[in-house]
Amino acid sequence: MSNPAFIPYKPLQVISEDEMKNNSLDFLNKIGFRRSIRHFSDKPVPLSIIKNCIKAAGTAPSGANLQPWQFVVISDPNVKKEIRIAAEKEEEAFYKDWAPQEWLEVLKPLGTNEEKPFLETAPHLIAIFMKKYAINMENRITKNYYVNESVGIATGLLITALHFSGLVTLTHTPSPMRFLNEILSRPKNEKPYLLLVVGHPADKALIPNITKKKFDEICSII
Ligand SMILES: Cc1cc2nc3c(=O)[nH]c(=O)nc-3n(C[C@H](O)[C@H](O)[C@H](O)COP(=O)(O)O)c2cc1C
Repeated sequence: MSNPAFIPYKPLQVISEDEMKNNSLDFLNKIGFRRSIRHFSDKPVPLSIIKNCIKAAGTAPSGANLQPWQFVVISDPNVKKEIRIAAEKEEEAFYKDWAPQEWLEVLKPLGTNEEKPFLETAPHLIAIFMKKYAINMENRITKNYYVNESVGIATGLLITALHFSGLVTLTHTPSPMRFLNEILSRPKNEKPYLLLVVGHPADKALIPNITKKKFDEICSII
């Protein structure tokens, strides 16, 4: 029998409004603990957890369901070292040569610089690539749609899944990132989207004392 075009939707759960309110608050409280971490421990993280979180990311909605993403998990210390060397080279040029003063000003509260030791210390890096186009079985180019939006949503799910698994992340975007294609042998239709650093926080890890906008600043209700 061929696959039907439509199947009944199975909801996760049918719950009362009170339970919904509790769930939304519970999620809000827990996601509020997510912070970008730049001091990582070298404590290992089982690959199975990373795989589950990437599977969760793969459930994301995407333009025409074309799923224009590729996740590359890097746990090999030699490859992490190669990535650190290449990233620090780009970052040095960014901080010393070409970053506009305005950009450097907004980065100041974060205390970032060209040194990226976490790229070696953290047990896993996940390089996320976006596929502007795909190459089908007949070697034909097929276009993907809403690629940035789709990969952004998948990445958000990935960060959330890692957070709820008890891990911490850093969203890292050394600019430009094409070196990731070379080091990771990725085809040219894949463009690096960002590099996620994943692991446990170092003992006494510090985070910048920054705040989020208030609800009324980010939401209008009509
Ligand atoms: C698209 C994007 C790119 C980022 N690039 C970097 C980066 O290259 N290096 C870095 O240290 N942090 C980077 N960050 C992390 C942000 O600085 C961080 O999310 C922001 O300061 C808010 O802090 P929080 O994540 O702890 O809430 C990036 C975040 C995003 C969403």
